[in-house]
Parts: sequence; structure tokens; C-alpha cells
Amino acid sequence: MTKIADDIWISHHQKKINLELSHFFKEIDQSLLKNVCEYAVLNGGKRLRSLLIYAISNYSDGYDTHFNCLALAVEMIHAYSLVHDDLPSMDDDELRRGKPSCHIKYDEAQAILGGDALQSLAFELLSSDKFNVQDKVKIKVLNMLSQSIGLHGMALGQSIDIDSANKELNLKSLDHLQALKTGALIEASCVMSYVISDKYNQKHEKDIASIGKLIGSIYQITDDILDFESDTNTLGKTIGKDAKDKKATYITLMGVTEAKKIKALLFSTLRKEIEQFPSDLTVLNNLVSYIYQRNY
Ligand code: IPE
Ligand code: IPE
Ligand code: MG
Ligand code: MG
Ligand code: MG
Repeated sequence: MTKIADDIWISHHQKKINLELSHFFKEIDQSLLKNVCEYAVLNGGKRLRSLLIYAISNYSDGYDTHFNCLALAVEMIHAYSLVHDDLPSMDDDELRRGKPSCHIKYDEAQAILGGDALQSLAFELLSSDKFNVQDKVKIKVLNMLSQSIGLHGMALGQSIDIDSANKELNLKSLDHLQALKTGALIEASCVMSYVISDKYNQKHEKDIASIGKLIGSIYQITDDILDFESDTNTLGKTIGKDAKDKKATYITLMGVTEAKKIKALLFSTLRKEIEQFPSDLTVLNNLVSYIYQRNY
């Protein structure tokens, strides 16, 4: 496998995580709730968080079990967040990844439970023997993941997001909201991958966190821009949803031209930080170009 994140590297790793996810669910007893979880997690998706995990670790082939476990867990958490995000009481979105949202395919109760189950499955996996890292490292990862998605992270961000509808936020509050709802899990994915890799150095953990934070910001600004200027077919989501719901986004706050300028500025800071990082992040450096240019 090439060691640069070109199109071949990206599609190889997207297939890799999809295969890992299929295998994981094959081992679980049949039930309606299992079908709901599988639908939520195996219905496509760019697998960006997994790509970050593989790019940062730059693992050697055959030495990837713990990175696979981490990627599986993060994809399950992310899928759960999307299932709940689409619920009628949240964004009320009927389309996800070009297919009916989970609560449309099944029903609201099953979608809520599917989200719950996916969240616990992620922790079940990372706390099991399958996640083959030292106990101390395992606890650190479990703590980081839980911090990034709960009352100090994604759930708080989603709560502020829902509460921000019809309100005018300033840039600082908007950044805060986006760093929590999207940035926290992306940042944690980067840091957790670094923590379990053999090149981990505690001195540089904060540098990886800063890189992850910037990637998270760029990712959500792009999500806002695409909601404004893409089309439903390309995006696989209902476009124009943020404006319709009067959500606080970069577009509503400053318009698309300014949003793109901020995105470009953040990207040049990101490039610098990646290039200044003391060990080799070539794969990540390539991957962030894809993240910057993505059109869905
Ligand atoms: C969408 O995430 C929601 C955000 C947090 C921005 P993605 O754009 O990563 O969704 P998938 O997994 O590719 O469908
Ligand atoms: C969702 O943000 C972030 C999550 C934690 C799921 P959005 O509501 O903007 O995500 P999309 O646009 O529906 O994918
Ligand atoms: Mg939302
Ligand atoms: Mg949404
Ligand atoms: Mg969005």
C-alpha cells in the first residue's frame, strides 16, 4: 500500500474499515436492533475519522489490530451521532448518505435505541481484550473518547446547536459550538491514534490535539458551505437545511465568501503545524488536502 494519502490510499482504507465493520456485525446474534445498528453504520459515509486514525498512526501492514478497533469504535460513535442528529426532535432530516435516515427506514424508537446500542458497542469493544494495548493506555483512550462525546464534547455541542436556532451567535460562540459538536470527536480520533502508535511522545500530544482541532474546524465549516452550495444528489443529505432551520452556521453569520476565506486561513495554519511536527506526517499531510477539497 502506498504511504501517501492519494485516491488509492483513501479508497483502500475506506474499504478496509467497511470490511472490518461487516465482520464485526457478522459475529453478533441476529435481532431487529442489530439490523438497525448495521443499517446506521454500514450505509456508506466517507470514513474520515478512520482515515485520520490510519494516517496519523502510519501503521505497518500486519500491525493494525488496535488501529482497526479504534476506527471501528469511532465509526460506531459517529454513526450513532448521525442517527440521533436526524431524529424529528433534532434536525428532522429524512435523508442520510443518500438513503432514508435510520428513523425513516425503521422507526423513531428503534433509531433512538440503535444510537444507544452503537454508543455502548464502541465502549464494549475498546474495553475488551480485542483492543490489544496496555491497560494504562486503554484507560486513557476510553477517558478521551468519553470526554469528547458527552457533556464536555459532542452532546454539549449538539445541545447548543439545537438551542442556537433562531438566535444570533457571535463568531466565538459559533466556533465553540462547532468545536464541540464536530471538532471534539475528530480531535480525539487524531490524539487517540497517536497515543496508541509506537511513535507516541507525550511531549507532542498537544501538537496533535491542535492539528486535530484545526481539522475539525475546517471539516464543519466545509459542512456548512456544502449545505449552502451543494446539491442533494451529490451530498446525500437534504441541502439548505441549516438556513431553513435558522441554524447558526458560518454561512448565516458571515456569508459563503468570508466562510471560505476563514477556511483557507485555517488550512494554511494546519499545513504549517503538520510540517513543523517533529515526526513524519506525510500521509496526514496528503489526507488534509482531500479534506479541504471535498465536495460531499
Ligand atoms: C457529517 O459527518 C456530520 C458532521 C459532523 C459534519 P460526515 O460528513 O463525516 O458524514 P459521513 O460519515 O461521511 O456520512
Ligand atoms: C452534526 O452537525 C454534528 C453531529 C454531531 C452529528 P450537522 O447537523 O450539521 O450534520 P449534518 O449536516 O446533518 O450531517
Ligand atoms: Mg445537527
Ligand atoms: Mg444535521
Ligand atoms: Mg450540516
